[in-house]
Amino acid sequence: MPKLIVTTREGEVRELEGEKGLTVMEVIRDNGVDELLALCGGCCSCATCHVHVDPEFAAKLPKMSEDEDDLLDSSSDRNETSRLSCQIPFTDDLDGLRVTIAEED
Ligand code: FES
Repeated sequence: MPKLIVTTREGEVRELEGEKGLTVMEVIRDNGVDELLALCGGCCSCATCHVHVDPEFAAKLPKMSEDEDDLLDSSSDRNETSRLSCQIPFTDDLDGLRVTIAEED
């Protein structure tokens, strides 16, 4: 199973096991990292699943939709590696992916 390495807002690093068919948001949430609120449940309408992705993995991520881009624009913590974690299917290809949970808006 692919591994996901998450850094929390407090700087704690956690290594999580991903399950096929889940999104990065679901892997984080299902492993009990509750600071990732994911309020809309993954339908790309809340931006509370905002993470910063390790630039090393940028080329492997799916293209950002216009909706995701617009939502991220509403965040004061957006940077060039920002993504909504519910919009990233967690595949074997992303094994070892590192993400940092963005600040809450
Ligand atoms: S969970 Fe709401 S946008 Fe990702």
